[in-house]
Amino acid sequence: MAYRHEIVEKNSILMVVLVLITVAIGGLVEIVPLFTIETTIERVQGMRPYSPLELAGRNIYIREGCYVCHSQQIRPLRDEVERYGHYSLAAESMYDHPFQWGSKRTGPDLARVGGKYSNEWHVEHLKDPRAVVSESIMPPYAFLADRPLQYADIADHLKALRVTGVPYSDAMIQNAKVDLETQTTPDADTDAVIGRYPKARLGDFDGNLEKITEMDALVAYLQMLGTLVEFDKVQPGSLRQ
Ligand code: HEC
Repeated sequence: MAYRHEIVEKNSILMVVLVLITVAIGGLVEIVPLFTIETTIERVQGMRPYSPLELAGRNIYIREGCYVCHSQQIRPLRDEVERYGHYSLAAESMYDHPFQWGSKRTGPDLARVGGKYSNEWHVEHLKDPRAVVSESIMPPYAFLADRPLQYADIADHLKALRVTGVPYSDAMIQNAKVDLETQTTPDADTDAVIGRYPKARLGDFDGNLEKITEMDALVAYLQMLGTLVEFDKVQPGSLRQ
């Protein structure tokens, strides 16, 4: 046996071939069982694609690299669930392209930060984190409140996501720009927006009615994180058909 092993150790090509065969077997054992289940995403109620304003905010979140310090996945461990709430479900990020699970938590997980604070708190915190959390090491993002949101091409963002499988309807794409403006205008006729995007938060997010800023979009996004799924209706172990 030891002698045969020497043959392999002295012949690198043979070694590579045998390693590949071994790895291939390991891979098959892991992957093949997945083909026998229909889907790995749970069946939940309440998930919907992002509204245009939330999507614009999400794009700013990605542009500013918030994911470098913040994760968006709550692991099914007791300390995490007690701190952040129900552990993250696959269904909650099924419309995320790219997903924002993150791999580093310099700051807290944000998967369920929606509704935890007021809009004013978020604006103040983003402008100057140390004004609200004195020991914070988060950088300030005050400029977001001055920069007008660029959303002329928002319908194209919805269209691109539809190609990847996000169920944006024709009406959602046609009305993307109007829906974005309506969501951030207090007193606007918001029935159509809520009809298309149930539970969307409405109103002026940054405290400045004069223009739609990047701050409006980012806060709208933060305020909806983790608020869609109705957890009292989730049946453990039920998968989407
Ligand atoms: C250098 C790392 C870093 C970056 C980059 C960063 N943050 Fe933070 N963030 C933190 C830290 C640390 C805290 C905890 C202290 C605090 O609340 O300020 C925090 C807290 C937060 C909170 C409060 C969470 C809670 O549950 O109390 C929010 C919301 C937040 N950050 C949003 C953002 C957004 C949006 C961005 C991108 C525009 C961002 N952060 C970028 C480090 C960071």
